Amino acid sequence: MDAQQAQQRINELSEEIRRHNHNYYVLSKPAISDYQFDMLLEELIRLEKDFLEFSFPDSPTRHVGGGITKEFKQVQHKYLMLSLGNTYSEEEIRDFEARIHKIIGEDVEYVCELKFDGVAIGLTYREGRLVQAVTRGDGIQGDDVTTNIKTIRSIPLKLQGSGYPAEFEIRGEIIMPHASFEKMNERRIEDGDEPFANPRNAASGSLKMQDSSEVAKRKLDGFFYYIPTEFPGVKTHYECMQAAKSWGFKISEYVVRCKTSEEIFDYLNTWDTARNELPFDIDGVVIKVNNLKQQEALGFTAKSPRWAISYKFKAEQVSSVLLSVAFQVGRTGAVTPVANLQPVQLAGTVVKRASLHNADVMASLDIRIGDTVFVEKGGEIIPKIIGVDLEQRKADSEPLSFINTCPECGAALIKQEGESAWRCPNEAGCPPQIKGKLEHFISRKAMNIDSLGEGKIEMLYDNGLVHNLADLYDLTFEKMIGIEKTYYGAEDNKEKKISFREKTVSNILNGLDVSKNVSFDRVLYGIGIRFVGETVAKKLASHFGSIANLSSADYSALVEVEEIGDKIAQSILSWFSLPGNLELVERLKAAGLQFTLEESPGARVSVKLEGLTFVVSGVFQNFSRDDIKKTIEAHGGKNVSSVSAKTSYLLAGEKMGPEKRKKAEKVGVAILSESDFLEMIQT
Ligand code: IVH
Repeated sequence: MDAQQAQQRINELSEEIRRHNHNYYVLSKPAISDYQFDMLLEELIRLEKDFLEFSFPDSPTRHVGGGITKEFKQVQHKYLMLSLGNTYSEEEIRDFEARIHKIIGEDVEYVCELKFDGVAIGLTYREGRLVQAVTRGDGIQGDDVTTNIKTIRSIPLKLQGSGYPAEFEIRGEIIMPHASFEKMNERRIEDGDEPFANPRNAASGSLKMQDSSEVAKRKLDGFFYYIPTEFPGVKTHYECMQAAKSWGFKISEYVVRCKTSEEIFDYLNTWDTARNELPFDIDGVVIKVNNLKQQEALGFTAKSPRWAISYKFKAEQVSSVLLSVAFQVGRTGAVTPVANLQPVQLAGTVVKRASLHNADVMASLDIRIGDTVFVEKGGEIIPKIIGVDLEQRKADSEPLSFINTCPECGAALIKQEGESAWRCPNEAGCPPQIKGKLEHFISRKAMNIDSLGEGKIEMLYDNGLVHNLADLYDLTFEKMIGIEKTYYGAEDNKEKKISFREKTVSNILNGLDVSKNVSFDRVLYGIGIRFVGETVAKKLASHFGSIANLSSADYSALVEVEEIGDKIAQSILSWFSLPGNLELVERLKAAGLQFTLEESPGARVSVKLEGLTFVVSGVFQNFSRDDIKKTIEAHGGKNVSSVSAKTSYLLAGEKMGPEKRKKAEKVGVAILSESDFLEMIQT
């Protein structure tokens, strides 16, 4: 394929993929299968890799992410990013209407909208292309999060239709839908990370991540609700939103025009309950004057527009009685106090349990058995106890104290500086930690042994057959056949037994056998070093190449790897310092698991860089550091880690260390910019 044909195909594919993205993510009406979509996207990714000159910043491939933001640039807002006045009652809404009526003097039409509970964002489009995305910050200036925002598939990188101003800003809210939130938290818990408290925090945390390919996995979404830039042809806010919709933006389908207070109150009351059925969080309703001329006449106070107001829902609250407090030990040994409550109906579900988070939260509530407690469901999915009804406290109630020893294995709990959780340190001997580690090891993203599951792991553990990961590979047919578990039926409460039959046992052995081919990065993720999630494991595997290199790496070698900071480095060092873990690795190695990276030699693209050596340093616009190194190799070049007189080029990204530059200048090594480099491999 020559360059001209490539350019044409890239254009066609980009248009087609844009259309399918819009169908799927904005309209929720996919026109092709996921597989067909993936094929189109893969073809485009491949072509853009081969023809870098046609890889544009608004290509739909940018949704996949890849760019790294080391530090978020502060950007001044062109229009202040104000908030809204809050109201909590119908009376306050009537006051708002009365104020408006007094200034405008004629009938006013309103628009009611959902108030999305997420992170406010301002997007700037120039000639129909997304050029900048900035968070609210302090309202005057915010963070430039453009690279991360581009991974959100419902956000158009290039607009459709016509009639949009040459340059304009649109504002909206980035949210994390419940489904994405729950999946992400499950993964975080699996990886030993603290789960996010609510979707809003998760969305905000995601936008501040450095690696945009990670942001892409978070499955964020965005709704748009305001265009501060004036443009001709529209007279009302409603029309403005319709225009934005026609350009490809995701506008809520629940935007309605209201003429009377009764219509407004209907909307408020409907959504106060209907919000429980939405797949994302809202925390109220926004009421806006529809006519833009009237909006202009009303203007702004120092803090908020006079033409709009928000009505905030009260967090739903009920009272219940504390029956007991249980202490749960997780896979990483963290002990969480959980309140068992008298079952009570709250926001559409029956609540029986509420998290008490940690010892400090428990102490500050001074909660006691038999207390009447207030339970609330705000932005959080898990309800929380917000207080105790002291008037109803029984005279003989006694303060509760946190436990000192592990409820599962009896080990003395410890608390590390800077952490809020008490932990059981008995990693290798505490049942839920062992079972949790085994479950993590067999999980889909690690060893993917689906013939084993939570129940089977429990049976193997309870029968004394496995105490650690390596024991799995010592399992034999004879050891497993016939092992039993007794349980009580949910309906009849009668004693029942299940046992491992021939088929189950041979499936397990087969699954274990197949897992010996699982690649090193997934084995590394599976062994469960704290803070080494899927992505970190990949980075470590490709950087060090083998467990031998990784286990002998010192602190400075570890933090040199992209995205590895102090916390992860310390955790890796401490894991490999325990003799039990080294022994575990040896046993798994002997069992035949992969502990080196099988280098699949990257496809050779050209010989343009043959005989040249490069030192790569700093941060790049179009590549992650690993990608740029791979590109060098794909064109026949070689990467070395330090500058010497023999180095051909120092490839300098932004924020390159000054020492490297000094050294290059001293020994006379040429310094290449990213665009010099692109030119070099293209011409
Ligand atoms: S209009 C000039 N509409 O709530 C003000 N804001 O507490 C324009 N929000 O700053 C904002 N949903 O971050 C507007 N439908 C909606 C909204 C909305 C959520 C956020 C926004 C705003 C904050 C005010």
